[in-house]
Amino acid sequence: MSQAMGTQAVHAGEDKRKPFGALTTPVYQTSTYTFEDTADVLAFMERKAERKAAREAGSDLLVRDEYGRYSNPTQLVVERKLAALEGGERAVLFASGMNAITTTLLALLSGGDHVIVVADCYRRTREFAEKFLPRWGIETTLVPVDDLAALAAAVRPKTRLIFTETPTNPYLRIADLARIAEFARPRGIITAVDSTFATPVNMQPLALGIDLVIHSATKYLGGHNDVLAGAVIGSHRLLSKIEDTRGILGGVGSPHDAYLLLRGLKTLDLRVRRQNENGMRVAQFLEQHPAIARVYYPGLPSHPDYETAQRLMTGFGGVVSFEVAGDKETTSRFVDRLQLPYIGPTLGGVEGIVQQQALFVSLDPAERAASGVKDTLVRYALGIEDAEDIIADLAQALAAVENRV
Ligand SMILES: Cc1ncc(COP(=O)(O)O)c(C=O)c1O
Repeated sequence: MSQAMGTQAVHAGEDKRKPFGALTTPVYQTSTYTFEDTADVLAFMERKAERKAAREAGSDLLVRDEYGRYSNPTQLVVERKLAALEGGERAVLFASGMNAITTTLLALLSGGDHVIVVADCYRRTREFAEKFLPRWGIETTLVPVDDLAALAAAVRPKTRLIFTETPTNPYLRIADLARIAEFARPRGIITAVDSTFATPVNMQPLALGIDLVIHSATKYLGGHNDVLAGAVIGSHRLLSKIEDTRGILGGVGSPHDAYLLLRGLKTLDLRVRRQNENGMRVAQFLEQHPAIARVYYPGLPSHPDYETAQRLMTGFGGVVSFEVAGDKETTSRFVDRLQLPYIGPTLGGVEGIVQQQALFVSLDPAERAASGVKDTLVRYALGIEDAEDIIADLAQALAAVENRV
């Protein structure tokens, strides 16, 4: 029976009967797992070999591991839940989003390969592709997120992977995942999307034909600003390579982090729906406000990717970016006047977080200009507070700025 997202978020991946009749999935706070005797060791090794063969053939076999760097039971439950939410065969969990991205790229690329990366992806992803991958003889071409012609032109005989991100930060651009998948599949090129801003509630990249979905689970999936984690979801075949590489590079999170993520995921559907609602209401409010020069929100007809977003997404998320009319100082005054959100760099949690983006780029005006981020750009990552309160807070901060008080 196929279940709705809200039901899956609560139940998917979890055994109904847990040890001692516990309702919640336990945290096994252990770094290693032991054996009864030699026969037990040998039986385990046989099952593990069967599992490896099954995964390579495209199916799964649940077998415990012998050491905490390979897996832990709480983490396995989170992985099963994430696979269900994204409609994938399998998920692999990591200690951070960056760890998920770097391990995936290192697992699937070899010296001599070429990778295409969207230019406005998360800055650290771009840095890894541009500065680190060449050390292993892997070349990267950056292409604009919305330019299929540039993407087609960038393909070489050795292009192995296209890495995109949607929506992007901070302008919330939407890559046309359906067309990218349609282009890449017949050419045997693997496609991966960082879907952190979208979440499985708003977009289902695997159903659009993308091979791998990646998340910084630190954001919406965890949802409470209390855990760092990352995840990759896709087929058994690709994930088996990625999981093997995680075992070598060592990027597994702790059992307690897996528990926090599991707990956060239960309310994912509720939280993201509320954040979608808040996003739309705040975007509409800001767009008609005279003290705001421009709003970037893919749910607004004024956004350059509005049509693509309508086609690929069912909700437009909780992040709204906008330019304040005025200069850098006006914008700082506005941010400082806000009473509800915290000032900081992340997104996706229950608390609203705001940032004057340019200040986090560099203190040097030339470097800021080169980054393309205007000094007046604000990113508001909405939490689950009441929209009326968020808007009232924005209204008072904008009034104060307009009246120069
Ligand atoms: C879109 C996106 N991808 C990846 C990351 C990296 O995730 P993490 O901070 O969990 O390593 C971030 C943020 O930090 C992000 O915003």
